[in-house]
Amino acid sequence: KVKEILGEIADKHRAEFEELYYLLEHLNPQSAEILFFYAHKIQIRSYGREVYLRGLIEFSNVCNRNCSYCGIRRSNKEVERYRLTEEEILACCDEGYQLGYRTFVLQSGEDSYYDDSRLVSLIHGIKESYPEVAVTLSIGERSYESYKHLFQAGADRYLLRHETASETLYQQLHPGMSFQKRRQCLQYLKEIGYQIGAGFMVGLPGQENEDLVKDLIYLQELQPQMVGIGPFLPHPKTPLGGFLSGTVEKTLVLIALTRLLLPESLIPATTALGTLDPRGREKALRAGANVVMPNLSPTEIRGKYELYPNKICTGDEAAECRLCIEHRIEDSGFQVNMGRGDHLEWRR
Ligand code: 5AD
Ligand code: FES
Repeated sequence: KVKEILGEIADKHRAEFEELYYLLEHLNPQSAEILFFYAHKIQIRSYGREVYLRGLIEFSNVCNRNCSYCGIRRSNKEVERYRLTEEEILACCDEGYQLGYRTFVLQSGEDSYYDDSRLVSLIHGIKESYPEVAVTLSIGERSYESYKHLFQAGADRYLLRHETASETLYQQLHPGMSFQKRRQCLQYLKEIGYQIGAGFMVGLPGQENEDLVKDLIYLQELQPQMVGIGPFLPHPKTPLGGFLSGTVEKTLVLIALTRLLLPESLIPATTALGTLDPRGREKALRAGANVVMPNLSPTEIRGKYELYPNKICTGDEAAECRLCIEHRIEDSGFQVNMGRGDHLEWRR
């Protein structure tokens, strides 16, 4: 029955709640290999052997939010907070551009210091120097108007993980935040015309298979261009520090199922997966992922953007990461593509 359901989803790119639930309950190491094989086949059909690189710039670790899993949550007083200036961010882009990157992902905590006018100026600065690059923002929840201004300023894409599609779990993990509002933000971003990235964590405390099925069903409805999926990793300085991490296997299964449901999506092999398992990112590429986001942040501040402990690459220069990741991608049988790597629908 597992094989039958897998074959059908791989064929139709659609699934019912019950089918996905059945799979999560019954997949074993052997049938998971079949799933990975289908996911790999679909990935090759959509994007060939290309793996897209994005340069990640973590420009501020100041955050007004208090998500219970996150190492840079407001209540963690042990974090040394930093903000990069526009000049510093542009210098990272310059280094990235020299290394060949054509997408910059600007990520930060929810830091109100970066208001629309500062961000607009930054986006203009990047687009003036490098008109052909794609700018991706990953800066959390903002108003419709703000999203619109940033899009008009030239931002191309926006990453805002939905984190979990279980309303109860969402509300437990995000004090003072709203499940509806987050979904509203994703809807706004999509309407405005961004290529959007949703995504979730696997193995959150209290998360059941039923909740993960909700994540997949939500993605199927939303049809985001990008989906970030990583294991939950307990950070000792957070309320969830004592819980177990998510597993590599389960994370790979969710990546692969996402590939079956959204055949043309851009799915990163996440840093969290690389942190949990030294070969995690390579395994993700074999299970349907096709994006890697090496870090371009200045090495001095890398360690301070600690969403979870033991984050990889914190000591490595941008150039080292670029080479390291290229080898890893090629050794996994893929080719590095340094282009903008837009979603297929954007290229047509
Ligand atoms: N473990 C794994 N992922 C985490 N994130 C934040 N904290 C953790 C953690 N402890 C993820 C969230 C967020 C993304 C930037 O990092 O999903 O959206
Ligand atoms: Fe950063 Fe390997 S990707 S050191």
